[in-house]
Amino acid sequence: MIWASGWRLASAVSNAGGLGLIGSGSMYPDVLREHIQKCRAATNRSFGVNIPLLYPDIDKHVQICIEEEVKIIFTSAGNPKTWTNILKENGIIVVHVVSSSKFAKKAEDSGCDAIVAEGFEAGGHNGREETTTMVLIPAAVNAVKIPVVAAGGIVNGRQMLAAMVMGAEGVQMGSRFVASEEASSHIAFKKAVVHSAEGDTILTMKQLTPVRMLKNRFFKEIMEAELKGATVDELKAILGRARAKKGMFEGDLDNGELEIGQGSALLRDILPAGEIVKNVWKEFEEALINPMKKT
Ligand SMILES: Cc1cc2nc3c(=O)[nH]c(=O)nc-3n(C[C@H](O)[C@H](O)[C@H](O)COP(=O)(O)O)c2cc1C
Repeated sequence: MIWASGWRLASAVSNAGGLGLIGSGSMYPDVLREHIQKCRAATNRSFGVNIPLLYPDIDKHVQICIEEEVKIIFTSAGNPKTWTNILKENGIIVVHVVSSSKFAKKAEDSGCDAIVAEGFEAGGHNGREETTTMVLIPAAVNAVKIPVVAAGGIVNGRQMLAAMVMGAEGVQMGSRFVASEEASSHIAFKKAVVHSAEGDTILTMKQLTPVRMLKNRFFKEIMEAELKGATVDELKAILGRARAKKGMFEGDLDNGELEIGQGSALLRDILPAGEIVKNVWKEFEEALINPMKKT
């Protein structure tokens, strides 16, 4: 996750038994190299790098991952055909993030090893179709033979079990880990996340790249511009001022872009990442034994 998943969070998740991912989308190439090296020093376990294909410097990021012998890459927000062959030729496991079963099939046809099927509830960039996790997971599972990892709205072990009942073989959790001690997100943003309620997030900017974020002054600015019929270039100009960094990394809750999923409404605490992973497994096992018990 941009402005959240550096080496600290990725290594803490991996050390706890999950697969930690470094979010390269907010990193210059040299910064990415440093995070990979620090992550390797902080964990003996597997970890990966996420490369959103919509940002600049993709070729440099890919080159660094190859040089640093990263074993697993999650690609997102772009065409899986562009990079999968090159990554696979270098022995890298490739997982691509999709928002529909049509794109799931495309990822499989491009040679990806697995997909993340990410529903409408998810924080950050998202599909235009608004397919919820509840519908997307069974649809994606039916569409492809490769493993499906479920994402979007999953913040606890009970929901992880539900995803697996629908055929997912794993889950990718974002918002839950924004509210972790190791996330590099600003503490003001983390607090806003754990204080948010149902209805506080919205999927917006569909004319550009749709993104789910907390409703704040920045969101209102975008919405008013859209209502006035702003062109794509005008919207880009509003977005252009490093709004994501301003909001999530620098903690400007009014003027920054605050990417988070609907699941934030279920979060009440900022915890160490290792504790989050432990809790998820505990909740999963309890739900497996007694799925209908109220928690
Ligand atoms: C702050 C934030 C930043 C994100 N950045 C990225 C990113 O750079 N690349 C990506 O593939 N997904 C990104 N995502 C999406 C997550 O990887 C994950 O799929 C999503 O958060 C899952 O849904 P959830 O938020 O309901 O857990 C981001 C999500 C959040 C909340």
